[in-house]
Amino acid sequence: MMNKYFSVAIDGPAGAGKSTIASTIARKFNCLNLDTGAMYRAAAIWLTERDVDVYDSEAVGRLAGEIDIDVKYVSGVQRVYVSGRDVTDELRSDEISMLASACSKYPEIRSRLVDMQRQMAKDMRVVMDGRDIGTKVLPDASVKIYLVASVEARAKRRLKQLLEKGIDATYERVLADMIKRDHDDSTREFSPLEKAQDAVALDTTSLSLEQSILRAIDIVAEKTGMTEAMCRE
Ligand code: DC
Repeated sequence: MMNKYFSVAIDGPAGAGKSTIASTIARKFNCLNLDTGAMYRAAAIWLTERDVDVYDSEAVGRLAGEIDIDVKYVSGVQRVYVSGRDVTDELRSDEISMLASACSKYPEIRSRLVDMQRQMAKDMRVVMDGRDIGTKVLPDASVKIYLVASVEARAKRRLKQLLEKGIDATYERVLADMIKRDHDDSTREFSPLEKAQDAVALDTTSLSLEQSILRAIDIVAEKTGMTEAMCRE
């Protein structure tokens, strides 16, 4: 069925290609792209700036309602703010990755961020990527894609990204962090990473990024009945 306000949910573990695939789909189908992982990362920055130990559930639970983060689009690009400060360029370090994973297990933080995410998807054509988009944030999404890839393939891709950005990293370290994050993300009590029953699984282990993108575009076109040209206006 054609619906010009369709929503696309892209979930999967770290390094499966979610953000690149989501941003390309957003560009092709002219929709808003919300990287929800960036919001958990920003929440971690807010807490650490207040010297809150993200492993202290009592303190996090008490302060979750005050977390001051915002998402805006500047020339179509997502920027994330913590207490009004643009932190977009600080979000992707290894340290913030681990802190964000710790923050993402608290229901108080999840429910605040999920509310913000649903609000942003209202009356919009949107592609959202994260861990719980198809299962929790947008259970009625028009398209759900669940990306998977072996942990070794994902660690190799993440290492390349980090090195390209000039961030110091080794394969062993990236792999160990990824195994830990996979474990934590898929075994946490609230909204663990899991495939929605009605999601299309897309295994990118042996696909190039271009091949993965083309396959994802096909899935979106097939499920929504929309073409890129129809989304231009
Ligand atoms: O996708 P990412 O690596 O930027 O996500 C950072 C952390 O946030 C990751 O450990 C999982 C968590 N996360 C989540 O629990 N739910 C989401 N919708 C997005 C991310």
